[in-house]
Amino acid sequence: MVPKLSKRLTFILKFIPPYADVFYDLCCDHGYLGIAVAHTYSYSSVNLIDQIPSIMEKVSNKIKGSYIPTKTKITSTCLDARKIRIKNDGINVVSIAGIGGELTIKIIDSLLLQLKSTDILVLSAHNNIHKLRQYLINNNFNLVKEGLVKDNGKFYEVLVLRYRKSQKSNIGLVFCNSDDLSSNIDVLGYYDEQIAYLENKVLYNPNSNYEEIIKSYSASKSKIN
Ligand SMILES: C[S@@+](CC[C@H](N)C(=O)[O-])C[C@H]1O[C@@H](n2cnc3c(N)ncnc32)[C@H](O)[C@@H]1O
Repeated sequence: MVPKLSKRLTFILKFIPPYADVFYDLCCDHGYLGIAVAHTYSYSSVNLIDQIPSIMEKVSNKIKGSYIPTKTKITSTCLDARKIRIKNDGINVVSIAGIGGELTIKIIDSLLLQLKSTDILVLSAHNNIHKLRQYLINNNFNLVKEGLVKDNGKFYEVLVLRYRKSQKSNIGLVFCNSDDLSSNIDVLGYYDEQIAYLENKVLYNPNSNYEEIIKSYSASKSKIN
């Protein structure tokens, strides 16, 4: 059965390319995103990976007992995502969602060489998105598209990326998607929330260097006002 996805996961699913071969759902927990990919698109394989044995036992039972209407083969592996081997079998898509920005950076950093030859990377970090963006800029990832969703009162960015060795990164320091700016998502509310969060950090740690990022949020905000 197709898992019932939250508004956030439904949104992320729309950012997964429909036509590709191998999908990696890193830090999968319940595995809903990868299972939904197997149900929705015709990938040859979907790999669900999480490091907690009890979680992966449940995921393994879930996939054994579920009928997948596509030809997709689903596998589950209990492993630290930093140790995976990404196979080069056709077009690869790697997704890391639902964890903090700093942990996302650690995982990407451990897999950097492999991710540089991965076709598409889909990220949706829960926090510290500015650190993640800076890391991706420093490492020459390029933004294919981005989106913002609000679910249960919390905002989540989604970044679709590709490594481009010879190009300067086009990633902005802050979220700025003109489609979303004209949609009914409360982007202004998002900017205000991020600015307040960073200003609060500066208040408690005056040495922290968030000026540039706060300026970027303010500049993006003034484009909407
Ligand atoms: C909140 S869940 C996110 C689930 C799902 N990706 C989502 O977006 O709904 C975070 C999961 O990340 C897993 N995790 C954290 N660090 C990990 C690592 N280094 N390797 C594999 N899994 C990890 C945790 O075990 C947990 O199940």
